[in-house]
Amino acid sequence: MTQISNVDIKELVSQYGSPIYVYSQNQIENNYNKIKSAFTKYYPKTKIHFSVKANSNINILEIFKNLDAGTDCSSPIEFKLSKHAGFQNNNILYTGNYESIEDLETVAFENVKLNLDDINSFKRLATINVPELVSFRINPGIGRGGFEGITTAGTDAKFGIPYEKAYEAYKLAKEAGVKRFGIHMMTGSNNLEPHFFGEIVNRLMNIAHDIFSKLDIKPEYVDIGGGYGIPYTNQEEELNIDLTAKIVTDIFKEQCLKFNFGEPELILEPGRYLVANAGYLITQVTGIKDSYKKFVGVNAGMNFLIRPAMYGAFHRAEVYGKSNLTTHINLCGQICENSDIFAKNLEFPEVEVGDIVTFRDVGAYGYVMASNYNNRLKPAEILVNDNKHKLIRRKETFEDYFNLYQ
Ligand SMILES: Cc1ncc(COP(=O)(O)O)c(C=O)c1O
Repeated sequence: MTQISNVDIKELVSQYGSPIYVYSQNQIENNYNKIKSAFTKYYPKTKIHFSVKANSNINILEIFKNLDAGTDCSSPIEFKLSKHAGFQNNNILYTGNYESIEDLETVAFENVKLNLDDINSFKRLATINVPELVSFRINPGIGRGGFEGITTAGTDAKFGIPYEKAYEAYKLAKEAGVKRFGIHMMTGSNNLEPHFFGEIVNRLMNIAHDIFSKLDIKPEYVDIGGGYGIPYTNQEEELNIDLTAKIVTDIFKEQCLKFNFGEPELILEPGRYLVANAGYLITQVTGIKDSYKKFVGVNAGMNFLIRPAMYGAFHRAEVYGKSNLTTHINLCGQICENSDIFAKNLEFPEVEVGDIVTFRDVGAYGYVMASNYNNRLKPAEILVNDNKHKLIRRKETFEDYFNLYQ
């Protein structure tokens, strides 16, 4: 590949150097409009809250602000970033886990939508404040994700309240004075199968009915989390978002009617779907080695893109101006770990030092998971829109890094 939106990758490297993270605003806007229109077509009271953990650059958050989205935050800093990006509190969800008193103090009086992870989270919250509106994260007993590490419900998951115990949490909250209620789940990330979303929504709605009918409450919102996947390889197919929306909203509307829930807000918290395919990591070849295998090393590794080392994830990588795949290589970074290998036995062009290698689909869980391991400074982030580009976070400097020492 040679371009991102209408900007030449060589121009970006000559202006900003490498490695750099680059995001396409056009792609982010397309992704948002696609999922939003798919759902609102069938259920107008659907609200999209961008999951900040996927990409927390404030300039990216501002794009979502201008699209009229909300955010979903998992930590006090994500809440503060949302505020700085201009989101109103009623457009902010806070979904933590094992929330500390200090975490809860940040949001307890803010009138944000709180999805609490446990009955004990509510007990900790109640020592600070009992808000008017509370929701609990339910573990519906099943989960599914692209990897085990991103499967966030089911009997092995650390998240949420087992559905059998959720009644106790709502009962306690009601007795403590909570007036309005939501319900939440997040069962796993990177799912490409539309019917899975239908299955979990059906389950959550039945759980909601079971709890709410006993307590005589109606949900103000039903938050079905994120998890909408993207294809990372040429073999995978895109998630059919229109079919997903149809399946989910058909079940949702039918259950709302059956259980007399009225018309609660349907909330989605996508992260990956909105930003993953809008992000690129642009690197350059630093060394080529004929060892027992042939290795090509680039100037970013698991320090800046950890998904391959962490989950065994694959990111397509392309060389600028070279598309003839005439050799096989192991593509790696410069980090002193043998897990710092992006792909093994990869069909690749013949390259030389300095060639530009662009990794795809890194807009979600890319920069946010970057570290300073081996004491390398985090790269800059660039935003591209049509034929324009701008720096949206500068590269770290030695001074930034050194200034933390006492
Ligand atoms: C509570 C919650 N909501 C939303 C998301 C976003 O998930 P995804 O990027 O798969 O859409 C996550 C990711 O782990 C999450 O934990």
